[in-house]
Amino acid sequence: MAKPKKRYVCQACGSVSHRWQGQCTDCAEWNTLVEDAPATVFSLKHDLSSGGRAVEFVDLDKPGEMPVRQKTGLAEFDRALGGGLVPGSAILMGGDPGIGKSTLLLQAAAKVAREGHSVAYVSGEEASGQVRMRAARLGLSDAPVKLAAATGVRDILTTLGQMETPKFLVIDSIQTMHSDTIEGAPGTVSQVRGCAFELIRYAKENGVALVLVGHVTKDGNIAGPRVLEHMVDVVMSFEGERSHQYRILRALKNRFGAVDEIGVFAMAGDGLEEVENPSMLFLSGREQPMAGSAVFPAMEGTRPVLVEIQALIVRLQSGATPRRAVVGWDNGRLAMLLAVLESRCGLSFSSAEVYLNVAGGYRLSDPAADLAVAAALVSALADKPLPDRSVWLGEISLAGEVRPVAHGGVRLREAAKLGFGKGFGPSDTKNGSSGLDYAGLGQLANLVDRVMSS
Ligand code: TYD
Ligand code: MG
Repeated sequence: MAKPKKRYVCQACGSVSHRWQGQCTDCAEWNTLVEDAPATVFSLKHDLSSGGRAVEFVDLDKPGEMPVRQKTGLAEFDRALGGGLVPGSAILMGGDPGIGKSTLLLQAAAKVAREGHSVAYVSGEEASGQVRMRAARLGLSDAPVKLAAATGVRDILTTLGQMETPKFLVIDSIQTMHSDTIEGAPGTVSQVRGCAFELIRYAKENGVALVLVGHVTKDGNIAGPRVLEHMVDVVMSFEGERSHQYRILRALKNRFGAVDEIGVFAMAGDGLEEVENPSMLFLSGREQPMAGSAVFPAMEGTRPVLVEIQALIVRLQSGATPRRAVVGWDNGRLAMLLAVLESRCGLSFSSAEVYLNVAGGYRLSDPAADLAVAAALVSALADKPLPDRSVWLGEISLAGEVRPVAHGGVRLREAAKLGFGKGFGPSDTKNGSSGLDYAGLGQLANLVDRVMSS
């Protein structure tokens, strides 16, 4: 049997040579070659348990450096990120076309650049001229952002390697990027994955905060491979109705912070304006109480936001199947509430069309909105307005009970601060210092009694 050959493994790059040398031929480090346990060709091919480099294990309590976050100066953007940009991290920002992703990122880039940091903005969708025109419209032409229109990742990385490393790099969008090492047109799964991998590697190696803009599909997911969301550190979504002014920036995944904070912006003629106090934003400014309208104190991260829920019930004469249409809330949840109202409270919606709308283009997913939706429905059905300046909160169970919700106190206090006088909700919400006239409704039927008899 042939004598196993000696192997020397470079401790820096892992390359293997069969002769000891002072300098590694691959990475040019000195004195890094160390003799390795003899391995046969067979074992190298089939056994992964030897022949590798030593991996360093550390204790969990070993002090590590916390990355210093770079504030962009757009406070709402920083808030949604959990306090600012983390150097060497990758952020994926998704959102419907025309929602304002490019506008937001250009504004953030300009803010960071004006602080004296190096910033690069690479647009694969628009020509430089178009981006410059937008910058002029936003009043940002004088910001020292380095702007390029390019789609080749090799070109981009080569150029970035030759200039001052940017602190903040925007790639708009990852679906337009192209890598010449991969077959296929830009936007295909393998291209998106390959380009993102290279760009993220560049960002991690150079301590760059990278933002990749991502297209979304019809149902609101980020287009391309799901694995893209696994590759990045932060996934953000920029939401809103295009026909409405308000935009919400939300983190869906954040390796460096919480995911429940949002940033609120308003799209104006000269770009996105920050909305620092969004609590009143989604209320229609009506003075007179109207039937079918209820106010719900929603929570966005740590901030309460008051939202108006509107319901419209149209009685049908014929036996046609009545429609149920929902904007800003979950269809299935509306069906459930209608069923509970029918079976536990004896109301009938079966021959009526039901329309439900959350005002201002807001999207609700909080189950605590159940009671407010039920109140709007009952008020619309009875054609009687709910008590003036009242807020409603509580989750409704299939048995028709009004159940407690998280942060009841905070929500009610915010409503009181904004001039609301009455609160309705589960019996055991700690109403303590909220300053509202609070009434607990144990059962949904109590709500119906109150509205019908008012
Ligand atoms: P954009 O940032 O191009 O959207 P995205 O990159 O997400 O596709 O924004 C486009 C929309 O924003 C466009 O329909 C017009 C509107 N807008 C304004 O209302 N005001 C402005 O100052 C700017 C720049 C855009
Ligand atoms: Mg764009």
